[in-house]
Amino acid sequence: MVLPIITEPNPLLRQKAKPVKKITKRIKKLAQNMLETMYAADGVGLAGPQVGVVERIIVIDVGEGPIILINPEIVSAVGQARDVEGCLSVPGRNGYVTRADKVKVAGVNLEGRQVELVGEGLLARAFQHEIDHLEGILFIDYLSPAAGGEGS
Ligand code: NI
Repeated sequence: MVLPIITEPNPLLRQKAKPVKKITKRIKKLAQNMLETMYAADGVGLAGPQVGVVERIIVIDVGEGPIILINPEIVSAVGQARDVEGCLSVPGRNGYVTRADKVKVAGVNLEGRQVELVGEGLLARAFQHEIDHLEGILFIDYLSPAAGGEGS
């Protein structure tokens, strides 16, 4: 089921998301719906708050298959990369954001198992962008007109 995506300035996007305590049927259904919603919107990532569920769940697909991660945390980050970013919750805007080029992310999968994933390039960027959503941070927070940061 495709869910409505909430957009700026909806205050739900600015809340700190709550940890998921248990992988319930509801969480599994939510993850499935979030993936469907992301694909329908032609996005590469989506976080719980973007569908109005302020809980720590993200889905990503940068073209290498779907990733669903519960309670994700960045455990290490190296390098720097500057590239254009956008967000389904901030339609019509994009801009250059500097992020780590490679990250290791820990979290729980839908089977309730602890997993570690490594992402580079676009996948690293997606992890950082989606985990930011769980802290109420949007990519536009990094854009600085004075630094010439914003794209068209
Ligand atoms: Ni986003």
